[in-house]
Amino acid sequence: MIKEVTYENIQAAVANGILTITINRPDKLNALNRRTIEEIGEAVDSAASDPAIEGIIFTGSGSKAFVAGADISEFLNVSVEEGKKMSADGHSVFKSIEQCPKPVIAAVNGFALGGGCELAMSCHMRVASENAKFGQPEVNLGLIPGYGGTQRLVQLIGKSKAMELLMTADMLSAQDALHFGLVNYVTTADQLLPKCEELLNKIRQKSPKAIEGIINTVDAYYTDGVNGFAFEVDAFGKCFGTDDCKEGVNAFLEKRKANFKRS
Ligand code: COA
Repeated sequence: MIKEVTYENIQAAVANGILTITINRPDKLNALNRRTIEEIGEAVDSAASDPAIEGIIFTGSGSKAFVAGADISEFLNVSVEEGKKMSADGHSVFKSIEQCPKPVIAAVNGFALGGGCELAMSCHMRVASENAKFGQPEVNLGLIPGYGGTQRLVQLIGKSKAMELLMTADMLSAQDALHFGLVNYVTTADQLLPKCEELLNKIRQKSPKAIEGIINTVDAYYTDGVNGFAFEVDAFGKCFGTDDCKEGVNAFLEKRKANFKRS
């Protein structure tokens, strides 16, 4: 059964435990205006606490763009204070994606530029169709990335290549993105969503509590003031207090498949 929630600029459809969020402004190449960012935040927050949702896919409407950036038409006459708020609001929503306790995959079906590349990078994994293109062209506008791009691009592909892309505004093809580790897989356009679903369906067989622990603990590596190794010690210990761990260990010893409870 497919359950759909209607928003102004995104479509949110749940089928077989997977929420697909489609950024839906195809005439603007799915550019992220403020309302769209708010809607993404609302959809992710509600998915995080919805037991019927076990994984999330982000994609873009149409065949040309995932998201071609923040909506440049909202950049006229922005004050310094408004600019800071715009960035902080985007950071907060993209952080909620990164820290979502359920796996989130970006299905990048075309241009992923500026805020689009940043949206994809805030997801836990990325799968790209062959026509995808990635870039941070903000320097063309006298800007720098404002939704985490200067940080996550460095984390994902390293400082040298990130510096080059950020300073030249050059785009990476899907194959180059694969080469530099920005995406996990490249597929044909028609295999893009099936590949994301395949990954999520594989993850769904595992312990949901352990998956949440992976997300939190990997995130700790990137969190200021948090020692990731110490965080892991604590998170590993807490696993032993979960029913999932009892079930997983018993299932192994009894030579059967683990049957993890869905919340
Ligand atoms: N913000 C607002 N509108 C955007 C947009 C953005 N980031 N990206 C594309 N659009 C709009 C265009 O203005 C155009 O609208 P119109 O038909 O009303 O004029 C429509 O989407 C189609 O884009 P167009 O530029 O005609 O398509 P193209 O195939 O010639 O070029 C791109 C595609 C992606 C190369 C080009 O649209 C582009 O450079 N976009 C901006 C990318 C960017 O700088 N992103 C970072 C923003 S911080």
